Amino acid sequence: MNSLPSDRIRVGLDNRSYDIVVGPGLLARLGTLVKETVGDRPLILVSDTNVAAFYRSKVESSLSAAGIAIPPAILVPAGEESKSLSSYAQAAESILAMGVDRKTVILALGGGVVGDLAGFLAATLLRGIDFIQIPTTLLAQVDSSVGGKTGIDSAHGKNLIGSFHQPLLVVADTDTLVTLPSRELKAGYAEVVKYGLLGDSDFFAWLDEHGSAVIEGDPEAQVYAIASCCRAKASIVAADEREGGQRALLNLGHTFGHALEAESGFGGALNHGEGVSIGMVMAFDLSVRLGHCPVNDLMRVRAHLLSHGLPVSPPRNVAFEPHALIRRMQGDKKAERGRLTFVLVNGIGQAFVAKDVAASEVEIALAHALAA
Ligand code: NAD
Ligand code: GLY
Repeated sequence: MNSLPSDRIRVGLDNRSYDIVVGPGLLARLGTLVKETVGDRPLILVSDTNVAAFYRSKVESSLSAAGIAIPPAILVPAGEESKSLSSYAQAAESILAMGVDRKTVILALGGGVVGDLAGFLAATLLRGIDFIQIPTTLLAQVDSSVGGKTGIDSAHGKNLIGSFHQPLLVVADTDTLVTLPSRELKAGYAEVVKYGLLGDSDFFAWLDEHGSAVIEGDPEAQVYAIASCCRAKASIVAADEREGGQRALLNLGHTFGHALEAESGFGGALNHGEGVSIGMVMAFDLSVRLGHCPVNDLMRVRAHLLSHGLPVSPPRNVAFEPHALIRRMQGDKKAERGRLTFVLVNGIGQAFVAKDVAASEVEIALAHALAA
């Protein structure tokens, strides 16, 4: 019998180091992996209603098979709205009512929304308890479950209330991607492409050849792609956990993307990955305009994203206003005293942080994208 492809990546952060396990069939091994990591400590499952309908019973069976009691569960509605203060307050009160103590471990089963919310609950309850990430979207498997950024949204913007809090373990079962809606899978693929664009042109070339296999569910291609992204992120996080320097490169496409996502209304015309896809094209376009990047690289990136079903320009059905987008960017938590900070590129695989980009240049890039 062929053995299933799987991989294990270490995030090296001294006494807060942890493993990311990637592969198919991992939910069946979850009980064993949890037991190896936290023994018999009490658990609480946090998930959303969609994901729980697909995977809660699998998780429970796996825990039971390892001799672990089935944990109580907090289920939030699926969607970005669950990263709100009210949703956080309700979940926190429910968990406290269950009689949590400092040994309790939260299991975060779901996409980036569940991971960010459950991680922030773990960061704040009793001034910090442990948690394990079990990401079920491609976006969460390659990005949000790794690196310890946790948080919720404010009326003033996305992810403005949060904390760095590393998980004890990340278990990314690629089989869960089978039930993921195609739009969500492609949105996660935008984050996969991001890793090639920011620092690894060979990985981007590999995606040119195998990206369709990743999207179509080929297990080996998925494990290779997800593990490559996690390896890149693990190395960046180990070097710069709190985003004092190179971790900012992970925000390639995000300054434009967040602004577009926010102006189109969260949970509306654009999801996070789609915003990032358009934002990466805009970052390449701005880099070309500023003389940093060959136009051919912009064309390659655009063609790659388009051919993998991702948007490369802002949606026509939203009336974006350039000044409103710039105000959003100035309010982004990466902006410093209102100055515009962008991740720009010298070419595919060569990203750098540019502080103080002139608003007039950004306006031209926006006008160009909005007219595309
Ligand atoms: P999500 O968590 O909202 O999941 C998308 C949808 O897919 C939801 O409806 C969910 O219920 C459903 N779903 C999840 N897994 C499924 C599965 N296996 N089968 C069927 N349905 C499934 O969205 P996301 O794209 O995973 O995450 C987006 C969030 O991640 C945003 O809030 C963003 O800010 C955050 N994020 C955080 C970081 C970080 O470093 N912490 C990085 C990137 C993004
Ligand atoms: N997703 C960006 C980061 O983790 O830093």
